[in-house]
Amino acid sequence: MSGTWRILLVLSLFAASIPFWPLQPQQPNAAQTASPWGADYFPNIPLLTQDGEKVYFFDDLIKDKVVAINFIFTGCSDSCPVETARLRQVQKILGDRVGQDIFFYSISIDPFNDTPATLKRYAEKFGIGPGWTLLTGEPAEIEQLRRSLGLYIEGLENGRSKDHNLSLIIGNQASGRWMKASPFESPYILADRLGNSLHNWKQAIAKPLDYAQAPEIRPLSSGEQLFRTRCSSCHTLGNSEPGQRGIGPDLLGVTRQRDAEWLARWLKEPDQMLAQKDPLAMLLYEQYNRLAMPNLRLSDGEVGALMRYMEEETARLQAPLADKGSP
Ligand code: HEC
Repeated sequence: MSGTWRILLVLSLFAASIPFWPLQPQQPNAAQTASPWGADYFPNIPLLTQDGEKVYFFDDLIKDKVVAINFIFTGCSDSCPVETARLRQVQKILGDRVGQDIFFYSISIDPFNDTPATLKRYAEKFGIGPGWTLLTGEPAEIEQLRRSLGLYIEGLENGRSKDHNLSLIIGNQASGRWMKASPFESPYILADRLGNSLHNWKQAIAKPLDYAQAPEIRPLSSGEQLFRTRCSSCHTLGNSEPGQRGIGPDLLGVTRQRDAEWLARWLKEPDQMLAQKDPLAMLLYEQYNRLAMPNLRLSDGEVGALMRYMEEETARLQAPLADKGSP
C-alpha cells in the first residue's frame, strides 16, 4: 500500500510541477523574435562613411535591416574587385530596393590607407550607387567586427589568404538569419536571397527578375562556366543592353581583335603586364577608369577554355550580322 502511495505522490508532484514549465516553446511571430544576434552580440562601433559621416554599426547600419556586408580594401587587386563587381550586378538587379529595404556595406580592412576620400573615389570608379555605403574606422574595432561576423580571414590584407571568396555575408538582423555568400555565385541567386528569402518572401521584388537573362539550365562548356563565374561580373560578351555595360570592355570579337599570345598572357597575368607597362594594357587601363583587371590565377587549361568559349560566342553572334551584309 505504502508503495502505491509513494508512486501516487511522486506522480502528483510531477503533475503539479508541469504547469510551471513552458509546455512548448512559444512561437512568437518572426518580427517579434528577439534575434540571438542582437545589440549585445554585434559591436556597435563607430565608422565613417565615404562622405565622412559618422555612423554606428549596429544602430545605424544593421538594426532591423536586410543587409549585404563585405570587407574590402581599395589597394586590393584581386578578390575585392571581383566581389565589388558582383555586388554591383546584384545591386542592378534589385534596382530601387537597394537603399529602401536592402542595404549594402563595404567596410575597409585597411583603414590607414582607406580614408573617406579614397573610398569615395573607389565608389565612383565602380559606379556604386545609392544604398551602398563604404566605410572605414578604427583597425582594432573593425577586426572585432569581422570576428563577430565570422568573416575574419587570416592574411586577407596582404594577399596571403587562400580563402578569398568568403568575405561576404548577407542577413536579416531582425530575424537573425545570416549566411555567408560567395561572389562567384550567380548575381540572380544573391539578389533572390536578399530580395525574397531574407524578407520571408513578404515583398515582391520591385523590378522583376528578368529570367530571360538568367542562366539557362543546360550543360555548359568549361569555358562558359568559367566565364559566368569569373568574368561576367565585369564583362559582357555580346548581347549587352544599354545601361548593362560592365566595368570592363565587352569581349565579343576580342579573340579576333587581339593577338592570341597577347590575349593568353593577359588572361593569366594582367597585373604583370600592367606593371611592365605593356602599351596596350596601359591604354585599356586608362580607358577603363584606371581600374585594373584582377589576376584571377587561371591555369593554362582555363585560359584555353576561356579563349575557345569567347571565340565560339563571337562566331555564333557575328554570323547573323555577316549574313545580313551579303546580297
Ligand atoms: C573586377 C573586374 C574584372 C574581372 C572579374 C575580369 N575583368 Fe577583364 N578587364 C577588366 C577591366 C577593367 C579591363 C580593362 C583593362 C584594365 O583596366 O585593366 C579588362 C580587360 C580585359 C580584356 C582586354 C580587352 C581588350 O580589348 O583587349 C580581356 C580579354 C579580358 N578583360 C578578359 C577577361 C576574362 C576572360 C575574365 C574572366 C576570367 C575577366 N576579364 C575578368 C575587369 C575585369
